[in-house]
Order: sequence, then structure tokens, then C-alpha cells
Amino acid sequence: MYLRNAWYVACTPDEIAAGPLGRTICGDRIVLFRAEGGNVSALEDFCPHRGAPLSLGTVREDGRIVCGYHGLVMGGDGKCVGMPGQRVRPTIKSYPALERYGFVWVWPGEKSLADPSKLHHLAWAESPAQRHAEKAWVWWVAYRKPHRAGAGRTSTCTKGPCAGVAP
Ligand code: FES
Repeated sequence: MYLRNAWYVACTPDEIAAGPLGRTICGDRIVLFRAEGGNVSALEDFCPHRGAPLSLGTVREDGRIVCGYHGLVMGGDGKCVGMPGQRVRPTIKSYPALERYGFVWVWPGEKSLADPSKLHHLAWAESPAQRHAEKAWVWWVAYRKPHRAGAGRTSTCTKGPCAGVAP
């Protein structure tokens, strides 16, 4: 049982820069991509033709996602706009999505309740110093062990709270 009427972090914007991304949120398989106008779109990760994951497809220059199996084309609103050899235009489930605080957020619950103002204000995410500290922490977790063993990093951080921390 999931608390569905809430905003969930789905990914960071760079994770959808090169193509669609599949994620499971509250048990739902969701594909995230940059749709028309550069807006983030979150759709059911299920092609209505034969069920292939849309996250294995590609995103066209116009922001429409193309199924990698037979070429069904889906808009960011979940409406099919093209299917080679067929006249049907099925629709799949779409999810409210937004970008804020350096993350892509998805609302897996009731669409009518998806209010962006319900997203908690994350002051730390708007502070350049805090963001730098966060990146430093990620760096520390990812690299400390190899450095202890004498491998890897050769430079020292030069800005933010971790300035001067040696490798
Ligand atoms: S399964 Fe997607 S187009 Fe056929």
C-alpha cells in the first residue's frame, strides 16, 4: 500500500537529457522524457500496441516518444499520434510531473489533487552553498574508499564548504 497522493522524486533532469527513462514509483512502471516544448512528461511505461516498455524507445526532436518495437508514436499527454498500419489511436495513463529543486517529481495519485504548491519547500536545494555541500558528500561517498586505497582522485576541491579538502 502506497501513499499515492504525494509528489515523489523520479529522477534528475540530466537522467532524461539523452532519452527516455523508466522508473517504478509506487509500483507503477513510468517512463519519463522531455516532451513537446521541453516539458517533462510522465506516462505509463507500456506501449498500447503490444505492451513493450516505451522507455526502451526513443524521443523524436518534436518531443514525441516512439516505441522501439513497431514505431507507435505517443505524445507527452499519453495520446497516440501515430501507429504504422493502424487507424486506432489509443491513450495511456499520464502522470502529473514537474521540475523543481534540481529534481523531476511525479504525482502517482489522483490527478485532480496534484497541486504543485503541495511540494515542500526545500530551501537547501536553492542554496548554492548547500548544493555544493551535497555534491561534495556524494563525491565523498563515491570516492573515499578508492582514495584510501591509493587510487583515483588527484585534485582538491576549490570552492564551497569542502574547499581545500585533500584527496
Ligand atoms: S509494441 Fe509498441 S509499437 Fe508495437
